[in-house]
Amino acid sequence: MKFIPDYRIAEHCIHLSEQFGFLLQQAANGMPKYKGATGWMDPYAYASESSLGRIERKANEIRAESDIYVIIGVGGSNNAARSIIEASDKIAGTPRILYAGTSTSPSAIERIIDEIEGKSVHINVIAKNFQTLEPGASFRILRKLLYERYGSDAAHRICATGTPGSKLEQLSKQNGWNFFLFPEDIGGRFSMFSDVALLPLAVAGINVRNYLAGAAKQRSLCLSLRPEENPCLLYAAARHELSSRGSKAEVLSIFEPRLQFFLSWWIQLFGESEGKNGDGLLPTGCLFSEELHSMGQFLQDGNTAVFETFLNTMENSQGPSLDGDGMDDGFDYLNGKTFSHLNSVARRAAESAHAKHIPCNVLSTGKPDEETFGEMFMFFALACVFSCEMKKVNPFDQPGVEEYKAMMFAELKKE
Ligand code: PA5
Repeated sequence: MKFIPDYRIAEHCIHLSEQFGFLLQQAANGMPKYKGATGWMDPYAYASESSLGRIERKANEIRAESDIYVIIGVGGSNNAARSIIEASDKIAGTPRILYAGTSTSPSAIERIIDEIEGKSVHINVIAKNFQTLEPGASFRILRKLLYERYGSDAAHRICATGTPGSKLEQLSKQNGWNFFLFPEDIGGRFSMFSDVALLPLAVAGINVRNYLAGAAKQRSLCLSLRPEENPCLLYAAARHELSSRGSKAEVLSIFEPRLQFFLSWWIQLFGESEGKNGDGLLPTGCLFSEELHSMGQFLQDGNTAVFETFLNTMENSQGPSLDGDGMDDGFDYLNGKTFSHLNSVARRAAESAHAKHIPCNVLSTGKPDEETFGEMFMFFALACVFSCEMKKVNPFDQPGVEEYKAMMFAELKKE
């Protein structure tokens, strides 16, 4: 990953990075003050050779037997895998993947029920303590359907990913479901290198070993480069500097619509980790070039308490050449050009135009394959922890989320 801060704050970022350089050593030691919540900083901590082998064997079985694979989980329990799966081209021989348990919407669950009608189905419920309403409710419905349809054969079509000793583990033992591990010590938004994401990714035919290797490579870069040339620390420093200068929101701008769910992952990571004590940058995002026609106006001309970080990925392909067909349509200036060229011209124009109005940082990475996702997850998760440390905020709790849940459970009369 390469990071260029907005030119107006570049020098301050270097000073801040040097001032907070001690965080690199702390992270290399697993952030002792958050001991128990930082296992993900080693992408192999929950991915031993034997657990990867088990995941790959189960994934092969699911691929061979199912038309549809339903992942039941919300927030951190599905966002990482979904980011990569939805950004990847479908691999031949893999089931169609659907996502349930992401909302309380009646039409969302009805749509899943319709979609699985007449299809061979496997499901995977992913829930840390198995108390969250959305996955719990959807799992009830879908497992009932599976038992009605397959009888006792339903058990081997159900995977459950939960913490040791949880109700979900007990139920798995009692009913013969395949049980996978949700590490007890990490929150959902930091579970991207555990079974939580690895099993769904493997079912989708994604090479989880390349993914983990990308994360490991990024970890050693992030923790070894000197503070003043360290993109991860510099990015955290830029966020901190801009926040101190009055910015209230960060817009992550991406010119690749297939990264839509990555944006959701990023928003959750920063929103849930940093938005505390009446402070934190509102994390939001734009998928360009489409949103240049809507949000572009705001970024160019609206409230200036916002800064933008352009996340530039390399193109997977050039796209078709735009040579014309002889018709005078007014677009002959596109002859000989490709969509890839258009995308970079639009990006450069947006960067220059927006930078006249608000601070704009640029982050660049490779093409969005599984290795790059491993790199991005590690980069942003470490940067998020560094940002929170600069603000003196604990990144690993979520008291606000807990509060609304308590109110909802009280009304539902949950014991
Ligand atoms: O990051 C988090 O902790 C949350 O987003 C959780 O992942 C999310 O609330 C789902 O929790 P659970 O896996 O317990 O259902």
